[in-house]
Amino acid sequence: MSDRRKILVTSALPYANGDIHLGHLVEYIQTDIWVRFQKLRGHDCTYVCADDAHGTAIMLKAEQLGISPEEQIARVQADHERDFADFLVNFDNFHSTHAEENRELTCDIYKRLKANDHIASRTITQAFDSEKNLFLADRYIKGTCPKCKADDQYGDNCEVCSATYSPTELINPKSVISGSTPIEKDSEHFFFRLPEFQEFLQNWTRAGHLQPEVANKLAEWLSSGLKEWDISRDAPYFGFEIPDAPGKFFYVWLDAPIGYMASYKNFCERKGLDWLEAWKKDSDFELHHFIGKDIVNFHALFWPAVLSSANYRTPTKVCVHGFLTVNGKKMSKSRGTFINARTYLNHLQPEYLRYYFAAKLSASVDDLDLNLEDFIQRVNSDLVGKVVNIASRTAKFISKNGGELSNTIADEALWQRFVDAGETIAELYETREFAKAQREIMALADGANEYIAEKAPWSLAKEEGREQEVQDICTLGINMFRALLTYLKPVLPLTAEKAEAFLGETLSWSEPISFRGGESINKFKPLMTRIEADKVAAIVSDSQEALAEAQTSNISQADSGPLNDEPIADEINFDDFAKVDLRIALIAKAQHVDGAKKLLQLTLDLGGETRTVFSGIKSAYQPEDLEGKLTVMVANLAPRKMKFGLSEGMVLAAGPGKDEIYLLEPHAGAKPGQRVM
Ligand code: MSP
Ligand code: ZN
Repeated sequence: MSDRRKILVTSALPYANGDIHLGHLVEYIQTDIWVRFQKLRGHDCTYVCADDAHGTAIMLKAEQLGISPEEQIARVQADHERDFADFLVNFDNFHSTHAEENRELTCDIYKRLKANDHIASRTITQAFDSEKNLFLADRYIKGTCPKCKADDQYGDNCEVCSATYSPTELINPKSVISGSTPIEKDSEHFFFRLPEFQEFLQNWTRAGHLQPEVANKLAEWLSSGLKEWDISRDAPYFGFEIPDAPGKFFYVWLDAPIGYMASYKNFCERKGLDWLEAWKKDSDFELHHFIGKDIVNFHALFWPAVLSSANYRTPTKVCVHGFLTVNGKKMSKSRGTFINARTYLNHLQPEYLRYYFAAKLSASVDDLDLNLEDFIQRVNSDLVGKVVNIASRTAKFISKNGGELSNTIADEALWQRFVDAGETIAELYETREFAKAQREIMALADGANEYIAEKAPWSLAKEEGREQEVQDICTLGINMFRALLTYLKPVLPLTAEKAEAFLGETLSWSEPISFRGGESINKFKPLMTRIEADKVAAIVSDSQEALAEAQTSNISQADSGPLNDEPIADEINFDDFAKVDLRIALIAKAQHVDGAKKLLQLTLDLGGETRTVFSGIKSAYQPEDLEGKLTVMVANLAPRKMKFGLSEGMVLAAGPGKDEIYLLEPHAGAKPGQRVM
């Protein structure tokens, strides 16, 4: 192995106000595979991350839960760390942006920017909630669109007509937080003079630190001119107070990337290392940031400019990935495809998903799809059917013949193929072409399986005097398995560990793989079982359940803001509408469901036909008040399996949730079973 590289790697810092979901995991698994690969190749690679703990959203979330922001971020961090560990994401350090190292570094960097005359200050006018005493960001203001007059539009753009405007132009604006009418108020803000870095960024974005498509996108921004970046926020704000500016705080996106430095500094202090070695100008460390495509401007414009002004090194690479879709669509709570890390882990082991993501990931920023059918198919056929199979078919003959591998390579050309592929596969990992790497590995596995099938050691073993031949064939089988597991080790660290126990060795990849003979191996134990389809179905129904428990599926989400924040859906024609069979239903019976916090079980009479429907309306209704009432149901909705039983349809209700849920009821005279049009 040539020079030992010094590499510092980061993933984006997850916000401390929500759970880790499978979308996030695309990033953390991608980064972890890359880091494990570098370590396996013998490089000095360190992987740091942290929770992104600051900002208005976290402050409001804590307030809503009636706890302090410190308590909120501590709880979330514990959950995040547990989720990451259980997905085998192996950080060398996981810190928080709300930490002393980060406060010091952020204040120091700010002072450097200021000393370089890269900070401007001026008074701006903003919307202000005088009830909450809080300046309102655009997303905390809603009102009627000045253009199309649609109600309940956000402060900066209309989701109905796509108009963009400033919050002051909204008709009848309201604070989302208190409901009061915002006033306008002046306040002094501090700005980072980004336009000064126009030329620096034009060069930096074209100097090989970015994927070409990312550089092209940034070129569009750069050509339309950069604006000064507002890096301050007024109290109350959960963050770091700006030195010499009482009541002013650093905007969360200023101190968040500095959190990468702070986490590394915290790591170095524990290990007795010098953190500056990696961050000083002209450092011989590589610095790789893995991020999603939504936060490119922060990492490829603001961050290099800030680092450069503060006299630190800039990133070697910003590695951008696309977004996760599930079954071809955006993750959706109502479809049960908005899947939390924990919900997945309640049913399946992490390596299935690690492999599937690896089999889908490339170096491009394209979105990637988790197709749940394909997931089951692919993992079972590749990992269980191809890879693990090689060991299970050959190991038993080795143990039968005394447990020792032979010294003969039964098929030199075939073995050489496994050795040579190592460099190709390594190059694919290095360049983040994980899907191609997995394809190479599976092609090797196919080759191994064909060889074993053709030689059929199980038949030979029945013939007299062919023991040595069987031994040689199976020794090659075991060696091919060793090579495959070595190449898969960054993706499947647990399975590799089990394979190592069976082989009695540590699989290393710092040199081309060598043939192992003459030694004994241990008894083979099954390494991995197939994914059962009902486990995946359970993940989906639990994810739907989480929603059903929180609300009736057709009521706007309680935590997504106030009433009516859902834009009107895409237009449909009458035929589309006619597909929905709405019927008058008589609530014959309503009862509590054991163990369900939000659900009531309704027995609905459709005038001859009876349906059972589970509905998330418990917080708003007493069962006995519902019995005998008429309502409207979707009668032809596909039945849905839930934890408590099969739900055969859906009743219609409106409202923001909690104790405000209103079931629809027809005017007097309507009869059960009548169609609603
Ligand atoms: N806190 C900021 C990052 C600060 S970095 C100095 C943030 N947090 S996040 O929790 O919203 O996202 C963390 C990472 O997960 C981001 O890189 C984001 O792009 C990624 N993803 C979040 N949802 C995702 C998908 N659905 N699919 C793929 N990646 C996703 O942004
Ligand atoms: Zn509009």
